Amino acid sequence: MGLLDKLDKVAANRETLLPEGINPFDVVIEEIHSATEGTIDDHRVILAGTNNYLGLTFHPSCIEAARASLLKEGTGTTGSRMANGTFSGHSALEKELADFYGCNSAIVFSTGFVANLGAISALAGSGDVIVLDADSHASIYDACKMSGAEMIRFRHNNTVDLEKKLRRLGPKSKNSLIIVEGIYSMLGDCAPLAKIAALKKKYGAWLMVDEAHSMGVLGDHGRGLSEAVGVEKDVDFIVGTFSKSLGSIGGYCVSNHPELDLVRYISRSYIFTASPSPATISSVREALRVISSQPQLRTKLWENVEQLYRGLEQLGFELGSDPSPIVAIHVPTKENALFAWKAILDKGIYVNLIFPPAAPAGLSLLRCSISAAHTSDQIDFILKTFADLKPMMTTAI
Ligand SMILES: Cc1ncc(COP(=O)(O)O)c(C=O)c1O
Repeated sequence: MGLLDKLDKVAANRETLLPEGINPFDVVIEEIHSATEGTIDDHRVILAGTNNYLGLTFHPSCIEAARASLLKEGTGTTGSRMANGTFSGHSALEKELADFYGCNSAIVFSTGFVANLGAISALAGSGDVIVLDADSHASIYDACKMSGAEMIRFRHNNTVDLEKKLRRLGPKSKNSLIIVEGIYSMLGDCAPLAKIAALKKKYGAWLMVDEAHSMGVLGDHGRGLSEAVGVEKDVDFIVGTFSKSLGSIGGYCVSNHPELDLVRYISRSYIFTASPSPATISSVREALRVISSQPQLRTKLWENVEQLYRGLEQLGFELGSDPSPIVAIHVPTKENALFAWKAILDKGIYVNLIFPPAAPAGLSLLRCSISAAHTSDQIDFILKTFADLKPMMTTAI
């Protein structure tokens, strides 16, 4: 068996995804026109799978902030946060994130993925236990592996199972970090966070919430699920990303624990990777101001969510349990998902095609993500298209 032979299996799997000569995992957006429209395969399409929840990628003041920074500070930092990669903007953003969350401190990382790697592997180590939701994002799983801590999974959103696992830990629960997500990225459902926070207190554990998909989306001020359910004081660490509501790229961890600052000194993904560019940081700082000052964006987002979720529900599709900006349509088989995804694209709409293992519980999904920037007419068009293609999405192939 040679080094590359294992990739034969990957090649064979890839072939099964190409029945019509288009690889759904190799889509190129040839031109991007706005937060909700692009050109794919020479056709102008509505983008309904981008995580651009508030549509800020094209917000004029975010673009202007990035442009000014690009001209003044250049294209990149060419160094890690620990070396030459901390400019005044990185420090200012950390202060602004801490203020936004009403926390003592924040750390900015280069992506949300590496924020999870860096924060989790620094906070938990050999002799500790990480108790995580089974449907956690790949970055959380990878971080657990890196940390050297014992990893215990509980069934997705099942607080009975969580409590069983915490109880079994006995005194070790004081050394355990529970990790959950605000909104789960594939099915769009929320963690039962009030109950989880109560269990954390009952067993003396620590709690981290990944608000990647809920920051800017939930809570009166957009601080996420922790704010929405009133448990911020019980959450020890919040991690998040700049690549969704904030419309850019990067990640962060915030906390009231003064020890958070020490994470910088041992987090390999903080020390050994280049920091976000100055223009990126400036656009994020401006996006944070927009989120704070324009709650109407969140109102519009939720109007759009209602229109899409309720519309699909009325059409009889099986959806994720909670209305949220992630609307996942369950389809019977991988083949259904693949053919429907292509047909939807041909009609002028891009959505995400999700198979296991990216999708939980062996599901095949057509995942829409909705934005405040979508118009009501665009959502009507999505609903009409899905109604037309319903047989392809519901009758098993
Ligand atoms: C729950 C969760 N955490 C972390 C990440 C990683 O974020 P980033 O794209 O900034 O690496 C994602 C990305 O999809 C996510 O869904």
